[in-house]
Amino acid sequence: MSLLVDDIGELFTADEDHAVLEDAALVVEADRIAWIGPASEAPAADERLDAAGRAVIPGFVDSHAHLVFAADRAAEFAARMSGEPYTGGGIRTTVEAARRATDDELRATCARLTAEMLRQGTTTVEIKSGYGLTVADEERQLRIAGEFTAETTFLGAHTVPAGADPEAYVDLVCGAMLEACAPHAKWVDVFCERGAFDGDQARAVLTAGAAAGLAPRVHANQLTAGPGVRLAVEIGAASADHCTHLTDADVDALASGDTVATLLPGAEFSTRSPYPDARRLIDAGAAVALATDCNPGSSYTSSMAFCIALAVREMGMTPTEAVVAATAGGAKALRRGDIGRIAVGARADLVVLDAPGHVHLAYRPGTPLAAAVVRGGAVLPATAPE
Ligand code: NIG
Ligand code: FE
Repeated sequence: MSLLVDDIGELFTADEDHAVLEDAALVVEADRIAWIGPASEAPAADERLDAAGRAVIPGFVDSHAHLVFAADRAAEFAARMSGEPYTGGGIRTTVEAARRATDDELRATCARLTAEMLRQGTTTVEIKSGYGLTVADEERQLRIAGEFTAETTFLGAHTVPAGADPEAYVDLVCGAMLEACAPHAKWVDVFCERGAFDGDQARAVLTAGAAAGLAPRVHANQLTAGPGVRLAVEIGAASADHCTHLTDADVDALASGDTVATLLPGAEFSTRSPYPDARRLIDAGAAVALATDCNPGSSYTSSMAFCIALAVREMGMTPTEAVVAATAGGAKALRRGDIGRIAVGARADLVVLDAPGHVHLAYRPGTPLAAAVVRGGAVLPATAPE
């Protein structure tokens, strides 16, 4: 089957030169983009999706999310809004709830949140474990995550479980837990932070993960300017995530290395913390991605558009930079060349915006703008509110 997407007022490609085409059309063959050009030259196809002069962007690539959990932490959020700090300690609250949950309860959370994401234009999401912290629970969370995405991440090193000896726990993560989890994961991650895992422990986890075939990514420099970012760059991690507290050496490392700085402004919003300085990173030459960090503790949003709006308003990004970071940037953070951009040969993951241009994603914050979503060439039901 082929699909013609016609009468595109603004085609925002997010491709290498970030080309924006006006009065464009594109043709999808099976799950790939087969043709892009002026609407007046569009070839015929089996089906037609009329963009009616609106903008089309690549599907969002949300490269950082924690969706396998049970119960929320609304009370913790309310306490923070009354002045309590965020320390990461609430992770253990969710661990307790997730361990008690049945497979179907965990599956239901993933299903609800991935559906919510898709309706808003997210066509690829990465999902981490990390609310299990036992061999059986981490393996179970990754098995369930794998029902929803190919981008699964082993985060057994999310925090040290209550009552455990930190060194013994790191040995477990690098040993039996990794062995059980590796078949279900593509990536390995660690929360490198004061109160979680220090630089040596993080290095041990990432090195063991890499030896088991998992590619590294790191929760780095979220609460303090620790060793996480430099470790991520040194070991060639695909991404250093959060990057909220950075020294000049951290920025230099990101600018000269191959590691994407993935910024998660939903976390700063929800923890009432200072936002990361995207402008500083971009001006230094670092590659930047935006993601939601969707989780019940520090960032309970599934909205990439919300993250784009925050990045533009609070982090010094232009609207164009922010949309590129939420699409092509996320793809780079997942080392994927087939998604996050509109180009011939790329996967047909598209969002028709209920807006004339991509700038509206930041200009109209809080407004649902995904009028139609195409994933792998399939047009999903219209998503505008009834
Ligand atoms: O990315 N920082 C570590 N992990 C999550 C928070 C998880 C939680 O608070 O439950 C994050 O912000
Ligand atoms: Fe996270």
